[in-house]
Order: sequence, then C-alpha cells, then structure tokens
Amino acid sequence: MEPFEILSGLIPADRLRRNEGLDRHSTYRVGGAADVMCLPETRSELLEVVTAAHVREIPWLVLGNGSNVLFSDEGFRGLVIKIRGSTPEEGTLWQLKQEGEFIRAGAGVSLPRLAWSAAATGLSGLEFCTGIPGVVGGSIRGNAGAHGSDLSRVLESIELLQPPGNVVTIPASEAGFSYRESGLDRDSIVTGAVFRLTPDEPENVYERIRDFTEYRKRTQPSSDQSAGCMFKNPEGDKAGRLIDAAGCKGLQVGGSRVSDVHGNFVVNQGGATASDALRLIDMVRERVFERTGVALELEVQVMKSGVL
Ligand code: EPU
Repeated sequence: MEPFEILSGLIPADRLRRNEGLDRHSTYRVGGAADVMCLPETRSELLEVVTAAHVREIPWLVLGNGSNVLFSDEGFRGLVIKIRGSTPEEGTLWQLKQEGEFIRAGAGVSLPRLAWSAAATGLSGLEFCTGIPGVVGGSIRGNAGAHGSDLSRVLESIELLQPPGNVVTIPASEAGFSYRESGLDRDSIVTGAVFRLTPDEPENVYERIRDFTEYRKRTQPSSDQSAGCMFKNPEGDKAGRLIDAAGCKGLQVGGSRVSDVHGNFVVNQGGATASDALRLIDMVRERVFERTGVALELEVQVMKSGVL
C-alpha cells in the first residue's frame, strides 16, 4: 500500500495531501514535492500518524513553518508532518495558555504570536522572538535566538513524543542546548513547551519589541524570501561581517543572491532552486575561508539525500 492510502482514514482528507510542493512550505520558497504531507491538529492525531509511519516504515520528518530549512529540489520520498497553527485553541498542537509566570505553548504556535501574547499579559523574556518566523517546535530544536538571547534561557520544560507512542516531559536543562542547537534526538518530536518568564509592565515589554523590530527592519532583508541567517556566527566574530568583508554581497547563482542588506542572508530573487542556493553557499564559504581562514558552519538545515 502507498503511504497516502495507509494514512487516509487516520486524518481528515482535507489535511492529507499527495505530492505536496515543499516550496509552498518553506520561507525560502524552494523544494520539490513530498510524497505525502499531513497536517495534524491534535496530539492524538499526531500520535496515530507517527505510529502508522513507524510501523509501516514510511520515512517521515516534522516541519514547522519551514523558516530555517532548505529543501532539496528532488523533494522528499515519504511523509512530511507539518505542525503549524493559527488561532490558539485548547486541545490543539497550537494551544497557548498563561499560568502565572509560565506560558504553556503547543509546538505549532508561531514565535511572534507567543511573544505578543506574553507582552499582553505583562511577561518579559520573549521579546526577541517577535521577528523570528518560526514556530515553537522547530525553534526549540534549533534553539532559535536573536538580540543576545535564545529560547534555552526562557524554557522551563519540553514535551516530546518519542515514536512509536511514548510521551515524556523533560526539564529544559536536559535538552543539551548550545548556540543555535539542541541535543534533542532526531526521532523525538517536540509537541509543546512551558516557558518561565518575568513579570514586567506591558508597555516596557512592548517598547523592547518595538526596538528589536526597528533594528531588524534596518539591518535585515525582512521583506525578501530567505531562510534567515544562513550561517552560524563563528566564535568571537559575525558571519555577516565576514561575508561582507570578503566581498560576497551581491554574489548570485541563478535566482539565489547574497543580500545587499545583510551578508548572512541568501535571498530568493524569484525562481531560485535549492541547487542555486547550495552553489552560492559553497562559493561564499570558499571566499570567506580564502580571505579570512574562517570555515563558516551552516545554521540553516539543508536536506541531503532525503534527510534533514
Ligand atoms: N555586519 C556587517 N555586514 C553585514 C551584516 C552585518 O558588517 O552585511 C556587521 C554589523 O555591522 C554588526 C555585526 O556584523 O556589527 C552583527 O550584525 P547583526 O547585528 O545584524 O547581527 P548578526 O550577528 O549578524 C544575529 C543573529 C540573527 C539575529 C540578529 C539580531 C546569528 C547567526 N544571527 O545576527 O539571527 O536576528 O543577530 O539579533 O546568530 C537567524 O538566526 O536566522 C538570525 C537572522
């Protein structure tokens, strides 16, 4: 039986898609089709789908907002499970609940929504999230950050689904966080998290959000299609500064271009493919290494041979 047939019946038909273009699900707007994509709304739907994929040995991967990934032009032979919601609703994978100084959020909540919701209830600590286009699940896995902070600093605990059917909650201190990384095992799916925040006057929190938003607007190509910063900042330096100093701004391969605004952003100017972006990334790495001796490490997750 085909993966689509195996999964139909487990999830409503309007949330199960065949040959779904991954370009539509990545902020960089590239990628071939996935054999099947499903969009579970609740933890029990997710559990059913993952258990079926596990038992029938269907390769699967979990996707949030696709804001830190570069899918391959060949797409994905298997099942993509997309966890991304809009309006928070109790019982869904994007529920959002304040409990005193804590906020409980499902994996599919967007970081800007999380930040604004914390601000509205007079809780500080998530202001840096307002300009990050990810969702809670993927952002925890990659320890998303900005403005000198990251999620590891405000996380209390993380809920994980470990296929085939184990649900566990671990303290954030056991997630192996470091700069733009977690030590979470690839087979564990983040289903939600609890954030521990600090009370503050909402207007103070809003003011910091405004400052961060203004900074990003000034320094980043926010309205272009990109996957955010392409490389991690190397110890003691900044990837954007090094790329700029190596004269890479404006380099272009096909529709992929190193942004003129910020050197660490590779933007899709329209019609870019993943192979354009990968060739450009290699060129940038080589130039920066030749000129500065620094080997840049990718921050964005690149799909290779069907693995993310
Ligand atoms: N710079 C240049 N040329 C450039 C870009 C930057 O000289 O083309 C210089 C700037 O002048 C500044 C320094 O590099 O002195 C740092 O630049 P910026 O303040 O923009 O910060 P960044 O280190 O490049 C980091 C995060 C961003 C985050 C911003 C704002 C990483 C890899 N990047 O960028 O995160 O939004 O700080 O806090 O850690 C992301 O993770 O996807 C991301 C975009």
